[in-house]
Amino acid sequence: MDLTAEIAKRRTFGIISHPDAGKTTLTEKLLLFGGAIQKAGAVKSNKIDMHARSDWMDIEKQRGISVATSVMAFEYEGMKINLLDTPGHQDFAEDTYRTLTAVDSVVMVIDCVKGVEIQTEKLMEVCRMRKTPVISFINKLDREGQDPYDLLDEIESKLGINVHPLSWPIGMGKTFQGVYSLYDKSLRLFKADKQQLHEESTRFEDINSPELEKYIGESHAAQLREDVEMLDDLYGPLDVNAYLSGDVAPVFFGSAVNNFGVKELLDAFLQFSPEPIGRMLDETEIKPDYKKFTGFVFKIHANMDPKHRNRIAFLRICSGKFQRGSNYYHTRQDKKFRISQATAFMAQDKETIDEAYPGDIIGLYDTGNFKIGDTLTDGDKGMYRGIPSFSPEIFREVINKDAMKTKQLEKGLNQLMDEGVAQLFNFQLGSRKAVGVVGQLQFEVIQHRLKHEYGATCEFAGMQLYKACWISSDDPKKLDAFINSKQRHIAKDKDGKLVFMAESKSWLQMVQENFPDVNFHFTSEF
Ligand code: G4P
Repeated sequence: MDLTAEIAKRRTFGIISHPDAGKTTLTEKLLLFGGAIQKAGAVKSNKIDMHARSDWMDIEKQRGISVATSVMAFEYEGMKINLLDTPGHQDFAEDTYRTLTAVDSVVMVIDCVKGVEIQTEKLMEVCRMRKTPVISFINKLDREGQDPYDLLDEIESKLGINVHPLSWPIGMGKTFQGVYSLYDKSLRLFKADKQQLHEESTRFEDINSPELEKYIGESHAAQLREDVEMLDDLYGPLDVNAYLSGDVAPVFFGSAVNNFGVKELLDAFLQFSPEPIGRMLDETEIKPDYKKFTGFVFKIHANMDPKHRNRIAFLRICSGKFQRGSNYYHTRQDKKFRISQATAFMAQDKETIDEAYPGDIIGLYDTGNFKIGDTLTDGDKGMYRGIPSFSPEIFREVINKDAMKTKQLEKGLNQLMDEGVAQLFNFQLGSRKAVGVVGQLQFEVIQHRLKHEYGATCEFAGMQLYKACWISSDDPKKLDAFINSKQRHIAKDKDGKLVFMAESKSWLQMVQENFPDVNFHFTSEF
C-alpha cells in the first residue's frame, strides 16, 4: 500500500473528560467494537485514587497501568485507529496537554448528570488553542440527567464551542428509550446490557410515520417529533468543515457502560474525523504525505524496570514511513541514531514493529537521549512546534539533603524534567532551583523517584511565587535593562530560556505596566 493510502486509513485521537465521566468505560467499549479486546473489564482505569492509596507503590503501579494503556491501536472496518489515553488526574494535567499535541482529533465525554466539569473546561481550552476537532459524547443517559437542551447550552457557554447534535435522546434515566440519529435518520433502541455488543439501528426516514409509536409509545413519539423539527430548524445539516476547523462539535448521546451509542459514535467518528494532519516543523508545514520520515517525542515514560532506568519515548510519526533499523537524525543533538528497537501498541500488547506511518505512535527504547519535544527526521533540520510548557501553578525550592549525592540529585532532577514530570527553573543569582508543578502530587512523585532511582534525598521548601513568565522583547536593550533591574527574579528554564518569576498577581501587573516593551508569556512557545 502506498503512503497516501496508509495515511487515509489512519485516525489518531484522544478521549478527554473530567474523572468519572466514563472515559475508561468508553475506551473499553471502543476496543470491544474494534475486536481489540474480547471482554469487558480488560481495560483498567488509569485513575490515581488519592484516597485509596496506601503507599507509594500503589502510585507506581497505577502509573504502570496508565502507561500500559496509554496508546491503544486497533483495526476497525479497514481503518487503523490509534487511541491515546490521557491521565485523568488533574495533577498530571500537563501530561494530558502534551498528549493532545500528538492527536488529530478528540472525543470529549460528558456526564449528563454532572454536566460540564472543571477538568473538561481546562482540557477544552487546550483543544481550542490548537483548533483540534472535537466530538462530544454525552454519557450515562440511563441516569436522570440534565435536560439535553440545557446540556448543549452549557457546553457552548462553558467550553466556548458551538455544538451540533447528531443524535437525540428519547427520554432519560428510567424512561430512556434510546436515541434518534439525526444524521443517518435511524432509531436506536436502548437495552441495558453491560456485556453484549448489540447496538442495532432501524432506518426511520419519516418520523411522522405512525410506526414510530409502535417503537417508543405515544408521548415519546410526540416529543421526539417536536424535538427533531426544532433541531432541524436550529442546526440543519452538519458543516463538516466547521467541525474540522474546531469551530463546531458534533454531539452524541449514549450510555457507555451499556454499550449504547458507542457504535454510532465510532461509525460517525470514522466518517467525519480527520486523517493525520500536517504540523509545523519550525516555520515549515510538513504534510503527512511528505516523502521523508519525521516525528516528535510527546511523552517519555521511565521506570519500566527500576533496575535499569530504561525509558520509552513515545514518538508521533508526522510524515513519511518509519523503518526500523534506519538511521534517523536527532535534530536537537545534531546526531544520527540507528533505531533498532521500536514498539507498536496494539491494544494492550506491545509488539516490535518494522514500519509505521503518519498518525502512528511508536515506542522507542531510550537510554537518556530523548526529551519531550525532540524531533527525529530523515535529515531535515528543525524542531516540531506546538509542545509548549505552561506556567506551573505551585512552586517549591529544592533543598539538597545529602551533600554527598549532589551529582545524583542534579542528574535525577534533569532526567525527570526531560520526562516532563515537572519544570525546573534555575535562578540566575545563587544556585537556587525552583520546581514548578501543576499539582501537589507531583512533588511526592519527584521525591520518591529521586530517592529510589537516583539515591538522592531532597526536600521542598515553600516559595512565594505566582507564575513563571517567559520573557521576550523586540528591543534587546530593553530586555537587558529589565533583566538587570529584576536580577533576583530571573531564572532559566530547562532549555535555557529566560523566565521572570513573579511573586504575586498584582506585582506582575505592576511590572508589566512599568516595562511595556517586555512581553510576558504564560507558555514557553510564543
Ligand atoms: P473515567 O475513566 O472517566 O474516570 O470514568 P470510568 O469509565 O471509570 O467511569 C466512572 C464510573 O461511571 C464507573 O462506575 C462506570 O461504571 C460508570 N459509568 C460509565 N458509563 C456509564 C453509563 O453509561 N451509565 C452509568 N450509570 N454509569 C456509567 P464506578 O462505580 O466508579 O466503577 P465500576 O465499579 O462500575 O466499574
